[in-house]
Amino acid sequence: MKKDLEKIKKSALSAIDMVATPNALQDVRVQFLGRKGELTRLLKGLKDLDGEKRKAVGQAANFVKEEIEAALSARESALEKARFDAIAKEEWIDVTAPGSSCETGSVHLVTQTINKIVDIFASIGFSRVAAPEVEWDYYAFEALNMPKEHPARDDWETFFIDEGVSKKYGKQVLTPHTSNAQVRILEEHDVPLKVVNIGRVYRRQADASHVPMFHQVEGFCVGDNITIADLKGTVEYFLHSFFGQDRKIRYRPYDFRFTEPSFEIDIDCDVCSGTGDNCRVCKAGWVELAGAGLTHPHVLKAGGVDPDKYSAFAFGFGVERIAMMKGVSIPDMRMLYQNDLRFLKQF
Ligand code: PHE
Repeated sequence: MKKDLEKIKKSALSAIDMVATPNALQDVRVQFLGRKGELTRLLKGLKDLDGEKRKAVGQAANFVKEEIEAALSARESALEKARFDAIAKEEWIDVTAPGSSCETGSVHLVTQTINKIVDIFASIGFSRVAAPEVEWDYYAFEALNMPKEHPARDDWETFFIDEGVSKKYGKQVLTPHTSNAQVRILEEHDVPLKVVNIGRVYRRQADASHVPMFHQVEGFCVGDNITIADLKGTVEYFLHSFFGQDRKIRYRPYDFRFTEPSFEIDIDCDVCSGTGDNCRVCKAGWVELAGAGLTHPHVLKAGGVDPDKYSAFAFGFGVERIAMMKGVSIPDMRMLYQNDLRFLKQF
């Protein structure tokens, strides 16, 4: 009996030593200590032995059982540790490292500017309308008192589209200004009216203060007896609400075919603080923000409105310029559209 015990112990311990997985270890446990296991069978045979012998063999068998159990659990821990070591080698986790946070998106500076502009005009009763970005020559030029051969049309450096010419409306263009909305608005709405049209416009240009796609906000107000005083009052209310009371504004006479008289409106440059020194953005300390004027009678007529009954003013501000002139120090307009997150995150 003792010899059998010794044999069982030896083969159990060496089997335990050789297993490489928890499942194999479980099999070894069943093989020796399970209900039909080798040691269990031997213990069952004890009842056939007489008193003293049964006690001695019983005791020895229990020692062997304990030894096997200890070896099993030691091996189990070793296997578990080996498994963790292998995982740790592959995917090392430093639980004390600070967590990585998700990037938060933000609204583009130009969109922020548009939202502010819309709010200011809404507060003085201007509602928002929209006009096509791909437009007929008719609404972009012709109906605005700019006949085909007129040299003023060269100023707009327009992107024409070769396909789909209309007999009635001419070529299609990527609209070069938001003034294309004017005659459309008159065709679609009753007068008097006060509206803003904010949209994308396209011109062949690119330098520190021009990009080929930019945004304009077109204001259009039609009513009885609209005068330059109304235009100035509206423009200055807007500019002072947006930029604060202390910014300088000036009007320069200009020539637009669709307004008479016409102006360009400048603001003191925020990039060089109005000094003009080595500034790539402004001209001698001033930045042109808008064109404006009293609507030409031909434009009202083209929209079916009697110029003897109604008068109107219109203005067109460049949104990117407005954004650049308010405390952001952007020395080149093209930076707005390079989609560099390091730049955009600042706003
Ligand atoms: N459409 C003109 C431009 O793009 C600006 C303008 C708008 C001028 C309305 C007069 C009236 O430069």
